[in-house]
Amino acid sequence: VRTLTYYVGTSLDGFIAAPDGSYDFYPVDEELVQWFVAEYPEVLPTHVRAALGVTGEGRRFDTVVMGRGTYAPALKAGITSPYAHLRQLVVSRSLERSPDPAVELVREAPLERVRALKREEGKGIYLAGGGELAGALLPEVDTLVLKLYPVVAGAGIPLFRAGFSPTHFSLVDSRTFRSGMVALTYARR
Ligand SMILES: NC(=O)c1ccc[n+]([C@@H]2O[C@H](COP(=O)([O-])OP(=O)(O)OC[C@H]3O[C@@H](n4cnc5c(N)ncnc54)[C@H](OP(=O)(O)O)[C@@H]3O)[C@@H](O)[C@H]2O)c1
Repeated sequence: VRTLTYYVGTSLDGFIAAPDGSYDFYPVDEELVQWFVAEYPEVLPTHVRAALGVTGEGRRFDTVVMGRGTYAPALKAGITSPYAHLRQLVVSRSLERSPDPAVELVREAPLERVRALKREEGKGIYLAGGGELAGALLPEVDTLVLKLYPVVAGAGIPLFRAGFSPTHFSLVDSRTFRSGMVALTYARR
């Protein structure tokens, strides 16, 4: 069965971006970049892969699901297919048609769409975010990979936007980096 993995960078206080959507306040150093490339090459956007010379297919994911808020910065920059190496789905009620033939637009019931995707054959599904979509998809999140950066943001876009719904996970892996970032992998209990 295919799994849904929310792989995301977060502050210590659970914010994935600043109030304006930026996230360049996370300290990312060369050691981290090397880890991203080695472990999660398919999670890097196509233009980043090109800049870093990454061609690896990656072993985990062949599909990405993202909210319109996460897709928007790419779109604004004229990039309509930000993960061209993956099958891409964008969830949005406001977009009327997909800006790119390589991007499937999901206009309603993302939870049902993800359940259907999981029944298909393939590698894992990468949930790119953001917090609103992650909140909607929480019942189907199998794995959480949190890149916990040693910074308190104070405000911003939350990791999950959902109603109160305690959902338990077990820690299955952790790795500490020199920068103080800790990569935590959790499996749904
Ligand atoms: N730190 C990280 O690793 C990381 C990762 C990903 C994203 N981010 C940041 O997070 C921010 C985006 O997060 P966000 O929470 O604001 O937005 P988001 O979850 O990416 O997108 C929200 C939009 O997705 C659509 N959507 C979400 N749930 C839906 C549902 N149940 N049914 C239909 N449509 C639904 C709606 O689009 P419409 O308004 O078009 O209807 C909604 O406005 C960005 O600033 C991004 O840079 C950070």
